[in-house]
Amino acid sequence: TRPFIVAIDGPAGAGKSSVSKLLARRLGFALVDTGAIYRCVALMASREGIAFDDDAKLGELLGRVRIHFQVVGEENHVFLGGEDVSSEIRTPPISMGASQVSGRPVVRAGLLALQRRLALEAASGAILEGRDIGTVVFPDADVKFFLQANPEVRARRRFEELFQKGVDSSLEGVLQDQTRRDAADSGREVAPLKPAEDAVHVDSSSMPLSEVVQSLEQEIERRR
Ligand code: C5P
Repeated sequence: TRPFIVAIDGPAGAGKSSVSKLLARRLGFALVDTGAIYRCVALMASREGIAFDDDAKLGELLGRVRIHFQVVGEENHVFLGGEDVSSEIRTPPISMGASQVSGRPVVRAGLLALQRRLALEAASGAILEGRDIGTVVFPDADVKFFLQANPEVRARRRFEELFQKGVDSSLEGVLQDQTRRDAADSGREVAPLKPAEDAVHVDSSSMPLSEVVQSLEQEIERRR
């Protein structure tokens, strides 16, 4: 029997990472941050001087992606070839790069097996957070959530998150970057950001984190 699969999709800053992290800890589930995987691909490309739209070189690079997640303290850290790149993948150029490489079909297809394997390796359950988990990666997930929040709230949260991770930025910069990435993520042809038909919608704009986590947890328990 496979682990219990929870899909959490939504735009940047809707609260996916905070909610997923807490849920994973409370339920004892593995956490697969799929955005971090796209960010790792962008980081590798950037380090190797590969353009974010060079399909041939990206295709070759994908064969060398080695990623694992590990909880360090309270945080879900991402390791690329054994190196902890959790902070480095959050810088603005790598964020834009992630958004760009994620629009390349070769990259999306090349990362499918990795995302599925990371989830299926889990002991009892896995939470995957991303943009197309419920629609593409696990269309047969046991529960699907689509987490939303209004743009200002999302930008504030992202700014706060970056600040706490030690990445210096400005609220205006974060909002600008978010607007561009939202447009790119929803407008692209492959796997655009859109809710699965059977997703449970949650708007977290005016809900405290604890309430969002509780409501998702209740829904998960109902279906287990
Ligand atoms: O969630 P996060 O902001 O870390 O994701 C970085 C980028 O990766 C997003 O802007 C999006 O373009 C892309 N992404 C994606 N599909 C996913 C997760 C992330 O296209 N499942």
